[in-house]
Amino acid sequence: MSKILVTGGCGFIGSHTLVDLIENGYEVISADNNSRSNAAILDGVEMITGKKIKNYKIDLCNFDDTYAVFQENDDISGIIHFAAYKAVGESVENPLLYFQNNLESLVNVLKCVQEFKIPYFVFSSSCTVYGSPDQIPVTEQTPMKPAESAYGFTKQMGEQIINEFARTADTKCILLRYFNPAGSHPSAIIGEMPLGKPQNLVPAITQTAIGRIPKMHVHGTDYPTRDGSCVRDYIHICDLAHAHTLSIKFLEEGKSQSKVEVFNLGTGDGVTVLEAIEAFEKVSGVKLNYEKGPRRPGDVVAIYANCDMAKDRLGWVPKFSLEDMMLTAWKWEQRLKHDVTVFGSQPPSLN
Ligand code: WQD
Repeated sequence: MSKILVTGGCGFIGSHTLVDLIENGYEVISADNNSRSNAAILDGVEMITGKKIKNYKIDLCNFDDTYAVFQENDDISGIIHFAAYKAVGESVENPLLYFQNNLESLVNVLKCVQEFKIPYFVFSSSCTVYGSPDQIPVTEQTPMKPAESAYGFTKQMGEQIINEFARTADTKCILLRYFNPAGSHPSAIIGEMPLGKPQNLVPAITQTAIGRIPKMHVHGTDYPTRDGSCVRDYIHICDLAHAHTLSIKFLEEGKSQSKVEVFNLGTGDGVTVLEAIEAFEKVSGVKLNYEKGPRRPGDVVAIYANCDMAKDRLGWVPKFSLEDMMLTAWKWEQRLKHDVTVFGSQPPSLN
């Protein structure tokens, strides 16, 4: 049974990927310092899969601690590297925090990959590497424009660091460019737990609907789009998680044709903010309390993916619809409010 090290395994995408890997026969370990996550989410992973997950609570910016994980686990066959800060707004306010954290941790992990000759490395990249694209849908060949935030810049630099690393290493790498992750595991046992006021659209919708925040704002309704609000490509978190398992399988089966392969992960459907709100109201039966407000600095008008490469090469086909994303996100929000089983106590303070 292949052992996969998932860095950031206690995060939103990381925890859902642990579940998918286990359900597909992999042994998994996590490395997550829980600075932006709650280790209790692994209780939820155990409830779903029956497997207890070992998490190394270390800062990947500490090379010695990172190295010790590899020394203790000499049978790691692949790495999925999620661990990074990802709040776009915060990165604009504090770029050096993002460069130091996201890049030093990546370099430390890659140094261990090199030292321990780990054959496979999957990197959590982002559609933010495209900046504000001239043409949509974007393909993996769409030229990168300047990133709109330090966060996006760390993903662009991360990809370049991996490309340079792979030039001389024996490790086969995959870069996965996520569009907008949304929704939660259908069991409502694990899901997204934004710290503080939610920046992302779907948790802002569900927290408004459940009354955790009084009202939400639509950031801009005067864009040149079909209803004036921004267009994004929302992808269900479980579809996204499964793409990581398929990436590891793809590498294990020797299907990669170069040292680094890149895949867009979206549905290929562009959805406006107002359409997303309408889909939520339809599946939840809740009339959402929102106001049309000013544009948010840094937002691109529209971006959505051409995902033919992931479908053709990885055999990845998203299964969940926009309505499924909204319904699973809503079920999770309701469970967060009414049930502390998974967490033992209330989830980390949201304010
Ligand atoms: C989506 C739309 C907002 C909140 C995210 C991640 C980024 C990357 C891509 C992974 C925008 C609008 C939002 C609200 C709103 N993912 N909105 N009211 O900015 O596309 O980027 O996905 O790497 O890391 O941040 O996502 O959910 O913040 O915004 O109107 O209260 O919803 O203006 O148009 P974004 P988002």
